Amino acid sequence: MTDDHRDLAEIARATRRYLERERAAGRGDLIADAVAKTKTKAKTPAREDAKAPARESAKAPIKVQIRPPSQEEGREPLAVRLEPFPAPGNVTAKRTNLFGEEEAMPAPAPVIEVIEVAKTAPSPLDVFDDDLNPGGLDARKTLAADAIAVLDQVAAEVCACTQCGLCDTRTKAVPGVGTARSGIVFVGEAPGADEDRLGEPFVGRAGQLLDKIIKAMDEAQLIPNLPLDRSTVYICNVLKCRPPENRNPLPHEIEVCSPYLKRQLVAIQPRIICCLGKFAAELLVGVKGTIGGLRGKVYRYQGAKLIVTYHPAACLRNPAYKRPVWEDMQLLAREYLSD
Ligand code: URA
Repeated sequence: MTDDHRDLAEIARATRRYLERERAAGRGDLIADAVAKTKTKAKTPAREDAKAPARESAKAPIKVQIRPPSQEEGREPLAVRLEPFPAPGNVTAKRTNLFGEEEAMPAPAPVIEVIEVAKTAPSPLDVFDDDLNPGGLDARKTLAADAIAVLDQVAAEVCACTQCGLCDTRTKAVPGVGTARSGIVFVGEAPGADEDRLGEPFVGRAGQLLDKIIKAMDEAQLIPNLPLDRSTVYICNVLKCRPPENRNPLPHEIEVCSPYLKRQLVAIQPRIICCLGKFAAELLVGVKGTIGGLRGKVYRYQGAKLIVTYHPAACLRNPAYKRPVWEDMQLLAREYLSD
């Protein structure tokens, strides 16, 4: 491996992370900025397109592949498409500036959009993925043992917490359950009545369905040699206390409670996080959206991969969601196993 290859890999890796983050945050203009920076490092057709007259580039939008697509199914390859700024028909080449003087219109900025590109052959750069937290029982043994003290400390703080007011109506706080051993974390929304009574997440009807989902993954051997049940994964929620009448979490509750979840994730160093429903997804992906729109993609949360799926309670209300959830569990397993 030459230094040139390493440099190129570093550029591709940094750019991909940046684009993923900015896209998730809906900041298209920053994506444009990232591409502009990339263009100075790697010669791509984008450089020529920026100089070309707008009408010509409109006929032939240029795809600039920032990261070589992965071979793995479900991994979304990233690319950008440069297109001319959509100029209104009557635009003149001059404008009046703040001082009443006529001046030339600046050249239109390109519109840059992240698109999917067709899967192509794997590239040697794929091996330069960012450092991922390890998967597999052997690799995670020490890490899981070290996580216990931090998880216990967070649980103690959660049980004593009075920050958001839900302590007034809770029976028991519900910090989380399970282990860091597999590196798989399921994050739900907030405890319900059963969880509030028992102090453990996902023990009501939705929890029984989650147990079935995890058991089905185990029976299908989606991750060979990794026994899967409640005791080998970690299960927790965005809110650690039950909102009255199971209402949706309020923004200030999420704000004061989510640091507990984030500390749990730092301790666990998950290989993969599965967000169950909208509240976990919006918090950890950092973008608002529907589950239908957010699922089926692989995100990153620090050293973990992250996927989104329907909440088990949504599956109970609408059994048609069970099939996509199963597809998402297969995606979870593939991503757990791949770098
Ligand atoms: N729903 C959740 O989101 N979490 C639970 O713990 C139970 C139901």
